[in-house]
Amino acid sequence: MWQNAISILCFLLYAVSAIPTAPTPSASAGIDTHSFSKTTEYPLPNLGNVAAHDPNIIQYDGYFYLFKGGVHIPIHKSRTLDGPWEEVGTVLDEASVIDKQNRTRPWAPTTVEWENRFYCFYAISESGSRDSAIGVASSDSPEGGNWTDHGAVVNTGKGDLSDVYPYTVSNAIDGAFIKDQKTGEPRLLYGSYWHGIFSVPLAEHLLSIKTPKKPDATNLAYVPTAKTKPIEGSFMTYKAPYYYLWFSHGKCCQFNVHNFPPMGDEYSIRVGRSKNVTGPFVDKDGRETLQGGGTIVYGSNHGVVYAPGGVGVLSGTGSEADVLYFHYLNTSIGFAQGDARLGWNYLHYVDGWPKAIEGYVHANGSDAQNFRN
Ligand SMILES: *[C@@H]1O[C@H](CO)[C@@H](O)[C@H](O)[C@H]1NC(C)=O
Ligand SMILES: *[C@@H]1O[C@H](CO)[C@@H](O)[C@H](O)[C@H]1NC(C)=O
Ligand SMILES: *[C@@H]1O[C@H](CO)[C@@H](O)[C@H](O)[C@H]1NC(C)=O
Ligand SMILES: *[C@@H]1O[C@H](CO)[C@@H](O)[C@H](O)[C@H]1NC(C)=O
Ligand SMILES: *[C@@H]1O[C@H](CO)[C@@H](O)[C@H](O)[C@H]1NC(C)=O
Repeated sequence: MWQNAISILCFLLYAVSAIPTAPTPSASAGIDTHSFSKTTEYPLPNLGNVAAHDPNIIQYDGYFYLFKGGVHIPIHKSRTLDGPWEEVGTVLDEASVIDKQNRTRPWAPTTVEWENRFYCFYAISESGSRDSAIGVASSDSPEGGNWTDHGAVVNTGKGDLSDVYPYTVSNAIDGAFIKDQKTGEPRLLYGSYWHGIFSVPLAEHLLSIKTPKKPDATNLAYVPTAKTKPIEGSFMTYKAPYYYLWFSHGKCCQFNVHNFPPMGDEYSIRVGRSKNVTGPFVDKDGRETLQGGGTIVYGSNHGVVYAPGGVGVLSGTGSEADVLYFHYLNTSIGFAQGDARLGWNYLHYVDGWPKAIEGYVHANGSDAQNFRN
């Protein structure tokens, strides 16, 4: 699964040949750089060498499979997180069956393997709108060609059951998934701005909410005091004895290169933890994520990486380290949504708090060549 020395060499050759000879015009035209954080508190990412916004990665049969927002939800696979990534079809064969907004270009997919089948939760929405839905498609393979679109699991704004709490106060995008370790129950996480992140039990077959008309929902993260409520893109992992609630905080996209938001108001990756799947989640300073808390694990850095978010974590098994992956903008490349790139870092846990670490070094201190065979 992890590359050997030969493929590292191939990757280096690939990476060198992939570096553009000159920055694109958007990067040169008098951009306002004073809002770029030059901090070295967070390491530079390892390069995924692929464009991705809201990436989602699963491991299966010796490959990493990358799902991302895009027309019909493109799927790529690679032997390593560094690429090269090969496109292996799309989740949807045509526009989503969900009849709202632009059905051809779903956002923020999250794919899980569950009882020998793959389930891809995807979002249909428009920027700034709460008229959204999370749909689900399933397949016996993570590659394209045999997926069935089952339609909406949750609607907000308009559509079936959108008048039921918490759909009345939330935005049905950015689906994520966690299994309750105690009960084995599958749960859907979702949410963006408005009332933040919610968690709802799913039916055992994952195609609907467990009790659709009376969802036993829990609010997990919210920013009560801010005028805008800039949290979204949640992801949950379990690493005993804690559940970790990851999310993005701040402005994700549509940056004006002559007027960036104040430093720190752009996307950053934050986390809270709890021993209960439904929380309360608290950050390192003991602040609840329901009260605006969240420890920054990865933010803009080195004057290069800008607005990292769209977070996911690959949970290492045994001696493998967890991997934090995300999209980010490279300040010398550009700031359009299509400029977002996949980046990743290993995680090292100190007192149960995750920290992104530099380079290809395994969390236990052994080097990459050993680890990544
Ligand atoms: C929907 O999105 C696709 C892909 O971005 C775009 O080509 C198409 O024009 C959009 N359709 C509408 C009605 O906006
Ligand atoms: C597609 O999926 C169905 C059921 O999920 C399965 O029976 C069939 O063999 C699959 N077809 C291919 C070509 O993999
Ligand atoms: C976890 O949830 C249980 C009930 O589900 C509750 O009794 C317990 O106090 C919670 N623990 C914490 C640390 O919140
Ligand atoms: C940013 O882009 C520059 C110029 O293309 C490249 O040399 C550098 O490796 C990139 N860094 C990251 C972290 O993407
Ligand atoms: C660290 O992990 C690697 C990869 O699994 C393993 O080969 C090595 O023995 C470990 N080293 C230590 C010091 O635990």
